[in-house]
Amino acid sequence: MIKQYQTALVTGASRGIGPLIAKALAQEGINLALAARSAPELEQVAASIRAATGVQVLSVPTDVRDREALSALVSTVERTFGAIDVLVNNAGGDPQREFHNYTADEMEAIIQLNLTAPLELTRLLLPGMIARKRGHIVNISSMGGRISFPHTEVYSACKDGLIGFTRVLRADYQASGVTSSVLILGSIGGAGTTARTLQEMNLPMPAMGKAFMSPAETVAKGVVKVLKTDKPEIVIMPGPGRLMRALMDLFPGMGPGMNRGSGVTARMKEVADFREQQRQSADMSTHRSAGQR
Ligand SMILES: NC(=O)c1ccc[n+]([C@@H]2O[C@H](COP(=O)([O-])OP(=O)(O)OC[C@H]3O[C@@H](n4cnc5c(N)ncnc54)[C@H](OP(=O)(O)O)[C@@H]3O)[C@@H](O)[C@H]2O)c1
Repeated sequence: MIKQYQTALVTGASRGIGPLIAKALAQEGINLALAARSAPELEQVAASIRAATGVQVLSVPTDVRDREALSALVSTVERTFGAIDVLVNNAGGDPQREFHNYTADEMEAIIQLNLTAPLELTRLLLPGMIARKRGHIVNISSMGGRISFPHTEVYSACKDGLIGFTRVLRADYQASGVTSSVLILGSIGGAGTTARTLQEMNLPMPAMGKAFMSPAETVAKGVVKVLKTDKPEIVIMPGPGRLMRALMDLFPGMGPGMNRGSGVTARMKEVADFREQQRQSADMSTHRSAGQR
């Protein structure tokens, strides 16, 4: 077991990187509460982790954008396990849409998912952690904003926000026994949204993009690493990720240049156009079925 941590709540555990994070924590002997909206998939992940590791795993279907659902989630998990020692704010995502096409409601929903929910869950769990003098908040962020990843304005604002949130939280509560870390992810392969998009569109990753991709298991290892070492921030990227991040801050023009040169800008435009077509087809079929009623 890592330190004295006995339980963890992992959001976004129904697919992508989340199940790998959950499994890695279970392998350290930590009991788990898993949250996401898709109940059957979530329970499937829970069952496979129970079978493989023997730890207790509770699946709690939850939409993290719903504030009342977050309170209910925390109550359910605390009733079952008594306490939550580790919170992994992993649920997140981006609609892959050009910013000028967003509606105000869509923008708010993305902010709720990627920023408000992690802050609110932390706010709900913090008093218990402080009382027990034990807790670790782990936030999953992204290099998106640093490298100006195309068409991620809202998502990147949230993910950069999570980095600032983690730094201040860590500074304010470490003396109370509650610490915080953030993992800043580059492109992730094998599982998760990047891998799924490329598969869905039947597209290869541009060669240079591939060179900057890390396997999804690296994120799970990173979560275990920050719990063991209490590192404030780690960058999940092949090679010297921290150096890349520092370079992007020193020379902000490098990101767009790199994206253009590597074919990522053109590829992300294709993705945004593909998503727009999907939305238009979905809207048309909604109108058609409304007209038939
Ligand atoms: N994959 C990458 O290349 C990459 C790069 C940088 C950062 N990240 C970050 O890594 C984290 C995991 O990403 P991923 O690639 O594994 O994404 P993913 O495959 O799309 O999985 C996202 C997870 O979040 C859950 N989720 C989405 N909306 C939710 C909601 N409203 N309420 C509750 N759960 C919700 C999803 O479950 P349901 O749909 O069942 O709710 C799913 O379990 C995210 O924070 C993402 O921003 C990923």
